[in-house]
This record gives sequence, C-alpha cells and structure tokens, in this order.
Amino acid sequence: MPVETIRWKGELEGCAELIDQTRLPEELVYVRCETPEDMWEAIKMLRVRGAPAIGIAAAMGLVLGVKDSDATDFDAFVQELREVKDYLATSRPTAVNLFWALDRMERTARENSGLGVPELKERLLEEALRILEEDRETCRRIGRNGAELLKDGNTVLTHCNAGGLATADYGTALAVLFAAAERGMQVGAYADETRPLLQGARLTTWELKQAGIPVTLICDNMAAQVMKEGRIDAVVVGADRIAGNGDVANKVGTYGVSVLAAHHGIPFYVAAPVSTFDLSLACGEEIPIEERDPEEVTRWGGRTTAPDGVDVYTPAFDVTPAANVTAIITEKGVIEHPNAQKVRAHVRGEQ
Ligand code: MRU
Repeated sequence: MPVETIRWKGELEGCAELIDQTRLPEELVYVRCETPEDMWEAIKMLRVRGAPAIGIAAAMGLVLGVKDSDATDFDAFVQELREVKDYLATSRPTAVNLFWALDRMERTARENSGLGVPELKERLLEEALRILEEDRETCRRIGRNGAELLKDGNTVLTHCNAGGLATADYGTALAVLFAAAERGMQVGAYADETRPLLQGARLTTWELKQAGIPVTLICDNMAAQVMKEGRIDAVVVGADRIAGNGDVANKVGTYGVSVLAAHHGIPFYVAAPVSTFDLSLACGEEIPIEERDPEEVTRWGGRTTAPDGVDVYTPAFDVTPAANVTAIITEKGVIEHPNAQKVRAHVRGEQ
C-alpha cells in the first residue's frame, strides 16, 4: 500500500494531516495542521517536503487560512486569500509547485467570483483535493512512462527522496521503480544518503524497503566508486523546478551525480510532473536556490559536528544543466535530450 503523505480530515471545518517526515524512519506519525501558520512551519521544517507534496500542502494551507473568513463579498475575501497566499509563498523558494498550486487556488477563486463566500470556500477545498487527486494519477503516469526506459535487471541510483513521501502517494523518480516492479521486472536501487538532512537514508530506503524493492544505501561520496564498479545502469532523480531550457534544480548533490553519470556513460533521467516546469525562466541560473540554517550542517542528532563559529554555506539545491540530462520523464511522455524548443513543445502540448 502506498503511503498517504498528506490528507484533509473532515469537511471544510476540518484540517490537514501530514506525515511528519522529520521523524522517519523511527516513527510514522501524522501531525495536524489547523492554521496556515502550522502549514508554513510544516513546509519550512520539512515535515512535508518534495515539490509536489509542498504544492498540495500549500493549497491546503490556503484553505486553512480562508475557511473561517468573515468576509461578506468577493473583493474582501480575495484580499484575505491574497494575504494568506503571499505568506505561504515565503515558506520555501525553490520548488515551483508551491507557487503553481497557490496560483491555481487564486485562479479558482477568481473564476468563481459569482459564488457567495460560503460556496467559494467549499470550492477552494474541492480544488485543493483535486490537486491531490490529480497528483496521484500524474505520478502513476510518470511511473509508466519511466518504466519503459528501464530493462529487466536494472539497478538505479537515486538522490534525495522523490518517492511517495514527496508527492500525494506514489512519487516521481521512485514511481519509475514502483511501476517497473509492478510489471514484474526485477529492479533495484542504490540510494545516496543525501546530506545534510538525509532524505535518501531516512526516507528513500524506508519507502523502497516497504515496497519490497532491493535497495542499498551509500554515502553521497561513494557514488563515483559505485558507478566505476559498474553497479549502476541508470540514474533517476526528481526535480524542484525545471527552467525553460531543461536545466533542472533538484536536491543539492544532484548536479555532481549528473557529472559522474556523464563521465561513466550512464543515462541520467529526471522524473517530474509538468507542474514542475517554469517556462518564465530561460535557464537554470534564474532559479532561486534556498539556503538553509547552517545548524543543519554543523549539528546532527543533538551533537555538534563542527567547531563553533565556522563559516558554513548551505545551498539546499543545485542546478543540473540540460546537457547532462538524458531525458525528462513527465506524465505526458519523455523529452529526450531536452532543450528550450522541446521543453516548450512538451509542456504546451505541441508534440
Ligand atoms: O528539500 P526537499 O527534501 O524538499 O528536497 C526534495 C527534492 O529535492 C526532491 O528530489 C524533489 O522535490 C522532487 S520530489 C518528487
């Protein structure tokens, strides 16, 4: 059974519940988010994380922020909605799905400006749940499209966590493995541990073990050796934002893996929904890269792992140039050797 990363409990008066991913793999617990502040904190602290899941969370956060609104007319209501939207948009900067989902929610409100405020609130909850449901289907399509690129017996290297926990329930990069396994193919994985917050070690291995897919954990700095030993047939990763030319922002370390894959002649695949593309950006250099608290690097498990006052640089993401990407897998199909023209055609449905 796939994990249910995030859900809405009850009717409009209810709240969001999400797996607190900071507590995995020790314990699988759901936390409640009853206010937009709860949701902002959950996104910021990576209780919910991964680009598509952040989008779903933001849409639910917006509902939490407007469901008790006292506004009596559309203009006042949409003004409040804009304030909650702007606030949630400050939680994390890189995954474009967050902004995509918030924009979609505002658009839904504007398209239904003729409704009374109570009906509008219901309509917004419906839209948040639609985003969640669509993600389930989108990820399954990504999985099916990606499985076509693998062969029976293949072993895949992945970085960070682009599994069910990063989406509604099935994942993007890991969906490729899940779909291949569902077809009866024997596939396995190596998971980079993914410093500093260990999404690979804590989350990816947990998910793959649950699914019965053989997985071997390695430290990030072992990937080159593992490739050189011929253990990897393909790399499959997720994405937080893909620029118009096919440059891919994903968890820091992904770029390095792409360089290693190119050096060893190993195909490097990116699996992501169309909502992860940002055609307003010409290239990856324009993607905002989140920097996080230095303590995430200087402390671990309650211990200090570096001297006090040491300078620390903490980009949470990096950009893999399109030239290093063998193909991008989406719910619509596969973009081989992506470039600006192919990306535009794919996203706008011209191919
Ligand atoms: O900081 P995180 O854990 O939110 O980073 C997540 C990633 O980098 C994922 O690979 C990406 O969001 C794709 S999730 C399907």
